[in-house]
Amino acid sequence: MGSEADIERVLWTEEEISGRVAELASQISDDFKGFPAPIVVVGVATGAFLFLADIVRKITLPVAVDFIRAESYGSGTESSGVPRVSCDLKIDISGKHVILVEDIVDTGNTLSCLISHLQRKGASSVSVCTFLDKPARRQVQFKLVGEGKFYWGFECPEYFVVGYGMDYAELYRNLPYVGVLRPEMRK
Ligand code: IMP
Repeated sequence: MGSEADIERVLWTEEEISGRVAELASQISDDFKGFPAPIVVVGVATGAFLFLADIVRKITLPVAVDFIRAESYGSGTESSGVPRVSCDLKIDISGKHVILVEDIVDTGNTLSCLISHLQRKGASSVSVCTFLDKPARRQVQFKLVGEGKFYWGFECPEYFVVGYGMDYAELYRNLPYVGVLRPEMRK
């Protein structure tokens, strides 16, 4: 459990990921040129850690980097499905332009919660840059803040995927590619 043998097929290779990340970074560098520095890039822990590390190294503008974490709590062991911020930013984002970096947007609940949170903290704009997007599974239509933009790396089919930061039971995050987990591995 936790190895390459558990992967049914690869959807995006390390090379494909690196090429797409470079394109996104170049687009962001162009779009935010002339904005007051620094842009605050906020990674959503834990899944975005590799994507965040790769993209900030290719953005050619001054950036500040921070992390945020959201979790779903419920009564007892059942998740309520409603996420709350469980680990907040260190940086003061009031009056700043923020880019929220996510691994994957699925139902949209996490993103919607985080965007509202950053808005309440006074961000001038909130953009979203997600590595993968699963638009077919959206339940909540999130609203960007100010002149915020939405960037995505690849549209993901409705599989459960792992690798490049994404996990199943905290495993597989270190795979350098994105693959579909064999269904029998999800117990
Ligand atoms: P949402 O709140 O339903 O949009 O879920 C977003 C979070 O669910 C992501 O940040 C991931 O941590 C997790 N997630 C959704 N789909 C997948 C997947 O296919 N593989 C791994 N994690 C996923």
